[in-house]
Amino acid sequence: MEVVYWEGQRLFLLDQTKLPHQTTYVACSRYQEVAEAIYSLKVRGAPAIGVAAAYGYALAAFNYRADPGLPLEQFLDQAERELLATRPTAVNLRWALERMRDAYLNIQEKSLDNIRSVLLEAALAIHNRERKLEEKMADFGASLVPPEANILTYCNTGALATAGWGTALGVIRAAHNQGKSIKTFVPETRPVLQGARLTAWELHDAGIPFTLITDNMLGYVFLHEGIDLVLVGADRIVANGDFANKIGTYGLAVLANYHNCPFYVVAPSSTIDLDLEEGKEIPIEMRDPREVRELGGQLVSVKNCAVLNPAFDVTPHHLVTAVITEKGVLKPPLEKSIRRSFDEEGVQ
Ligand code: MRU
Repeated sequence: MEVVYWEGQRLFLLDQTKLPHQTTYVACSRYQEVAEAIYSLKVRGAPAIGVAAAYGYALAAFNYRADPGLPLEQFLDQAERELLATRPTAVNLRWALERMRDAYLNIQEKSLDNIRSVLLEAALAIHNRERKLEEKMADFGASLVPPEANILTYCNTGALATAGWGTALGVIRAAHNQGKSIKTFVPETRPVLQGARLTAWELHDAGIPFTLITDNMLGYVFLHEGIDLVLVGADRIVANGDFANKIGTYGLAVLANYHNCPFYVVAPSSTIDLDLEEGKEIPIEMRDPREVRELGGQLVSVKNCAVLNPAFDVTPHHLVTAVITEKGVLKPPLEKSIRRSFDEEGVQ
């Protein structure tokens, strides 16, 4: 099932807010609809929002009507700003939009038809690149999974989150396909339940055994079930190896460290932001309090009570065993191995 696809001058997004009960698509014919879909989590997961935003930028060129008041370049800049403002933490969004802007700036023959077709090609290239890299990353990751393993993952990092093969969940899928005997623990991931709704749905569909747990069972699971490794994704990894991921990841990393359990971060290099040195510089998205007060649209607490709702937290690099990208397995000291991975291919 396609998570994101382009057809007839429209972008179709599998509406992840409706999963696992309904598989319906939203059809976006204006770039503003893509921005709304990203903000409202219809499409989510760092690589997938980068892919959707790239198509959204291309869509803006299709939306443009020659208007002497607003030249095309300004219209595209406005679309870029609106798409970028939707979710501040995942750097893949900025990465994809910068590539799209570069594609626009490099166009020689600036007729509207040519601009539209070049930008659509550029968005398709970003999408295809993601798919290819993730398979490589999954193979690197699978080589670290023992023949029999209890794996703990978090949030949703599968095809739904990347519009490709998946990051952490891609590793689980690859290890399963290699015949390894894997049991995956899936925390539900409050407040919006990406684990319970999306990861469980993907694993069930792939026939990979899993056990759903609530987020407050993590300590119990480490103590009583025996976790062999943790695999998570990332929304932004900075130069020293600190990284932002779904709220709760930091607590999970501390628990893994306490239990001497390997803790791996799986992410494409488009998730790495070398402009930031340390995790404390990463902007953390704060979301609508209703996500915490409500569950499936039903109020489960006191109406209008005070709520804290950061969508992500930052895990320090010293809790990370290795970062797995399409370039290889980057081991501590992460500051060095991350930088080296940008200078040379195939770091192992
Ligand atoms: O708020 P979400 O659902 O977009 O958060 C997703 C995550 O935190 C994922 O772990 C991250 O984007 C990496 S997914 C490949």
